[in-house]
Amino acid sequence: MHVDLYEKIWMYAAAGIIVVFLAAMGYTTVGRAMQPPSHVETIDPASVRTDEEFGSPGVTLHEDGTATVVIQAFMFAFLPLEIRVPRGRDITFRMTSPDVIHGFQIVQTNGNTMVVPGYVSQFTTRFDRAGEYLIVCNEYCGVGHHVMSATLIVEDMPGPSGAPDETEGAPGGTEGDR
Ligand code: CUA
Repeated sequence: MHVDLYEKIWMYAAAGIIVVFLAAMGYTTVGRAMQPPSHVETIDPASVRTDEEFGSPGVTLHEDGTATVVIQAFMFAFLPLEIRVPRGRDITFRMTSPDVIHGFQIVQTNGNTMVVPGYVSQFTTRFDRAGEYLIVCNEYCGVGHHVMSATLIVEDMPGPSGAPDETEGAPGGTEGDR
């Protein structure tokens, strides 16, 4: 069977790309242990609503100025609906789901994770620009997926024990802006 030279080149190129993609998947899965965020922390999805931490989601401000935000993502809302955090400080988000897989994306920032039932997803980021951010679910989770959202409000708060806020006057934008 005669195969044209150019067709042959494209066939080999396409096959080569597939091999590279499969190798990349294998490498990240086995070599880099690609997994749900903070995979080591598990939780029984059935106990999320009565859990000491996730049963009463909300923001906790710490003495060093940082904050922890505990969130429940469920069909079809986030709790709390409105999250207030200080500007320019490390904010740790912790969340889980009592039902299906959801997404948690703080639009126009690098805050983005899957929320997988059975696991606690956690990430830490900071916001250098005060204002209101939209949080959306970016994993299709059912008929109410499109209404699943919340609001993040970043505002200036007094520094830890009255210390001057060293991020004052920092340029706008969020660390890791894309
Ligand atoms: Cu929750 Cu889509």
